[in-house]
Amino acid sequence: MTEAREAILLVGGKGTRLRPLTVHTPKPMVPAAGVPFLTHQLARARAAGVEHIVLATSYLAEVFEPYFGDGSSLGLSIEYVTEREPLGTGGAIRNVASRLASGPDEPVLIFNGDILTGLDIRALVASHATSGADVSLHLARVEDPRAFGLVPTDDSGRVTAFLEKPQTPEEIVTDQVNAGAYIFRRSVIDTIPAGRPVSVERETFPGLLASGAHLQGMVDSTYWLDLGTPQAFVRGSADLVLGRAPSPAVPGRCGDRLVLPTASVAADAKLTGGTVIGEGALIGEGARITGSTVLAGAVVEPGAVISDSLIGAGARIGSRTVLAGAVIGDGAQVGADNELRDGVRVWCGAVLPDASVRFSSDQ
Ligand code: GTP
Repeated sequence: MTEAREAILLVGGKGTRLRPLTVHTPKPMVPAAGVPFLTHQLARARAAGVEHIVLATSYLAEVFEPYFGDGSSLGLSIEYVTEREPLGTGGAIRNVASRLASGPDEPVLIFNGDILTGLDIRALVASHATSGADVSLHLARVEDPRAFGLVPTDDSGRVTAFLEKPQTPEEIVTDQVNAGAYIFRRSVIDTIPAGRPVSVERETFPGLLASGAHLQGMVDSTYWLDLGTPQAFVRGSADLVLGRAPSPAVPGRCGDRLVLPTASVAADAKLTGGTVIGEGALIGEGARITGSTVLAGAVVEPGAVISDSLIGAGARIGSRTVLAGAVIGDGAQVGADNELRDGVRVWCGAVLPDASVRFSSDQ
């Protein structure tokens, strides 16, 4: 079988690395290229032949169903299962098993809810069928694997180990990392212990390997980004707008900028590098914004200069303020003539007076 008809999406994490963006919104619902990030994953799964998707929710679980409903607007049938206590990635997979209609040997696609990838899902399913594996994993090659779990494979692509984040150069034995998309033989899902937290990365996969199960890796060089951090999230959104990351769900033509219909942008404002301006946002005269995400209802006052930054819903950025690699929480007010750089996170609702923070002299 070269199609997986069912998928589980893991969307229940707290998204702590992305705070304050995840204070009011679970990570998969933070807009990327104008729509909740999860929309891109759902649309890509649909395009690969998936028909039924179970969303495994926990943190801020109540926001998913009002937005996606029964999934019919995306051509999908979507179900929601909420954990009473967070069960971790493996526990969440096991917890939704009763909702799957697939037979014991059929393939089930499982996706982390924060991965932006050009993965050829059908190719992963085909490789799973050809190798006869119990579980197939998408593996990405990264330049700096220190932040990831490493997954070495043998010549035939069979997984030989699961290694925790490497601490020393000697421990970096491969540049292949777990890319957060799997095909499970359905019967393998039923072997995960029920009713308690389980990590699929730290417990299920090493346990399967130790018991002699066949885990197959599929390495490819397609677009892949873990959107877990603010810098990565902003990059991913810009890449979707630019068309570097493929998604059928970008609401408009790909290009240098995406301005949602109800936003208002001054004629001489410059928007470049995959910048997206959300619904009802206002961009003032002479503002320059590159590679950034401005969420719904935010206001950027005249002359602000913004790069690689994310501005939360309803936030206000004062005139001439410079933001570079900054995250501004929902509803925060950054006064005029500030300069915020390099990973600074302004919390939701915070108020920064005019000319109160700089990274350089004001002269
Ligand atoms: P950080 O707190 O920033 O590490 O983010 P996270 O909470 O999303 O954790 P991580 O990136 O490790 O999670 C990988 C995927 O699994 C994400 O899509 C999460 O939404 C999801 N996830 C993590 N823990 C749980 C859980 O307990 N239940 C469910 N349903 N999903 C989870």
